Amino acid sequence: MLGMRVAAAFSTLASAAVAIAQSNTIINVGEISGEPTFWFDPPHVKVTEVNSTVTFVFRKPGNHTVAQSSYAKPCEPLDGGFNSGFFFVDSSSGTGTWNLTITDVNTPIWFYCAQQISEVHCELGMVGVINPPATGDAFDQFVYRANAATTVVYPSTALTGIGAFATAAVGPQ
Ligand SMILES: *[C@@H]1O[C@H](CO)[C@@H](O)[C@H](O)[C@H]1NC(C)=O
Ligand SMILES: *[C@@H]1O[C@H](CO)[C@@H](O)[C@H](O)[C@H]1NC(C)=O
Ligand SMILES: *[C@@H]1O[C@H](CO)[C@@H](O)[C@H](O)[C@H]1NC(C)=O
Repeated sequence: MLGMRVAAAFSTLASAAVAIAQSNTIINVGEISGEPTFWFDPPHVKVTEVNSTVTFVFRKPGNHTVAQSSYAKPCEPLDGGFNSGFFFVDSSSGTGTWNLTITDVNTPIWFYCAQQISEVHCELGMVGVINPPATGDAFDQFVYRANAATTVVYPSTALTGIGAFATAAVGPQ
């Protein structure tokens, strides 16, 4: 009986998540299930409707960015790409958010964390993608290339990117 009730609760949650995903998608920055880590969670998401938003939630503790890159060079800024800028959260502060509006849902939007102190986050695999290619293992290849990157670049903060833009800098939630 309990099992059935739990299963029903999960199925309600799952359908709610599907409905929300079309307008707003959450990506946690630097955390998986409550544990601080060098990762975007989830690292790849699908956004199907133009003008949907992706909210990056910077969780404590950490000091990260969301910077647009190319598939070929995961840890270097894309020309004309967005970059949230660094946002520091410690164990006493709340979370931060950065809202990205997606204007091109047909082209993958690759991104990385540009933090290099005290670890090089991109080389640790702190990369992600909005709308990865539907087939193949492009995201896995992207992570492998990030792990092997020899050049990691700090980009300047930029609200407008290619296929996506923000209207405000990352800030406290
Ligand atoms: C997306 O937003 C822009 C700017 O508000 C608007 O011009 C455009 O029509 C919107 N596109 C869709 C598909 O809603
Ligand atoms: C966050 O990281 C950036 C880049 O390494 C650094 O310049 C900044 O001082 C850091 N912020 C804090 C509060 O540590
Ligand atoms: C991002 O959007 C959410 C939901 O609309 C809002 O609560 C939050 O303040 C926004 N963050 C920033 C930095 O504007």
